[in-house]
Amino acid sequence: MRSWIAGLPLLLVGLPFAACSSSKSAADAADAAAPDDDSAAPENPGPPCPASGVAKGPLSLAMTRTSVIVRWEACRADATPGLVYRPESGGAADTAIATVAKPFVLKERHTAVLGPQRSPDDVPGTVYMHDAAISGLTPGTCYRYELAADRTIAGRFCTSQPDGGKVHFLAIGDTNPLLGDATSKLLAKVVPMGADFVVHGGDIQYYDSHLETWAGWFPSMQPLLALGAMQPALGNHEHETDDELDDYSLRFFGHPDFGGDTMWYRYESGGIWFHVLDTEEPIEPGTPQGTWLTAGLAEVATKPGFRASILVMHRPLVTCGDNAENDGARKAYASTLAQYKVPFVIQAHIHGYERFEIDGITYVTTGGGGGLIGDMNANISRAECGMRKVSGGFFHAMDVVIDGTGIHATVIDDAGATRDTFTVAMP
Ligand SMILES: [Fe+2]
Repeated sequence: MRSWIAGLPLLLVGLPFAACSSSKSAADAADAAAPDDDSAAPENPGPPCPASGVAKGPLSLAMTRTSVIVRWEACRADATPGLVYRPESGGAADTAIATVAKPFVLKERHTAVLGPQRSPDDVPGTVYMHDAAISGLTPGTCYRYELAADRTIAGRFCTSQPDGGKVHFLAIGDTNPLLGDATSKLLAKVVPMGADFVVHGGDIQYYDSHLETWAGWFPSMQPLLALGAMQPALGNHEHETDDELDDYSLRFFGHPDFGGDTMWYRYESGGIWFHVLDTEEPIEPGTPQGTWLTAGLAEVATKPGFRASILVMHRPLVTCGDNAENDGARKAYASTLAQYKVPFVIQAHIHGYERFEIDGITYVTTGGGGGLIGDMNANISRAECGMRKVSGGFFHAMDVVIDGTGIHATVIDDAGATRDTFTVAMP
């Protein structure tokens, strides 16, 4: 290891990529920090292909009451397919599921120039995606699984709750686990709370931090991926390079059958409907996504067992922090959200925590998953900041339980301290 690398994370303090927008200044700083003699930096070969052939993951996604997909990336065509699963509470059946290894060709190389020793390159070449589509599961039940390729590679998923069941999820956003150790400390505190699935508010990984590749991201995030289904919104950092959205973000988290577009979708647990928006595309009423949202809110409100809808998005409708808000969309949707029983909006992008109570709707910014903490008061002069109840610049995630009495949230920081608790009444 060359000595210049070890001290470079300290240079990141104060770099402006915390605001989730342009990375030009960070890139300039990285360029300035790099040694002049590039010949001293041999091309990083990326992580070695392990004996199991399992290179990234597994993770689970596309949760329904009776099905889920377990997905992983293999680095060899002949990696053993399949997995074994059983109910977490104990149960008889072990079942092997066949998977299909689908080749995927990666053309670009990505290097974490400030921390290649912690985050190997994402390298060009062919990888093999495995999707184990498991059906016939019991609603409201958690399962443990092990990959047949290596039974020590394990995880957990839970099916959606039946009508009226207790819905338990963890909300987190803006995860940059190799920026420092905040994400790892945070996951050690919140994963044991035992949520059934993960609502990720977007900005899942940060090439722009220059400390992180997907090859480094996956091992760091495995405790979260092993907790339950990853149900993310996509953020601006899913578009950091021309190839990232298709070759990485959607390859890992995309699924065409959610009921919307690949990048906006909805899913359900216990009569609670989660409408996940892509704020890199227009969301206003009358746009394709806005039309889809409004129609979906109306449709699910008529379904048997419906209790409430929740919106999940990356860029905020309302914030006092160090970036833009979409005040126009918030006001345009206010009557629609009230009409179709949407009492709770989960947003991210601003690196810290905020909770607003506006016209009977709770808006939370949960963007403290590990990205450099921002200025939560940069736009405190906005009129709606008078309706902000709690805020702070700290790393955190939000554990949420929805039962017959309401939506109960607990905000936990990376030291395990409770920073906020609140209950949203069911509409
Ligand atoms: Fe962002």
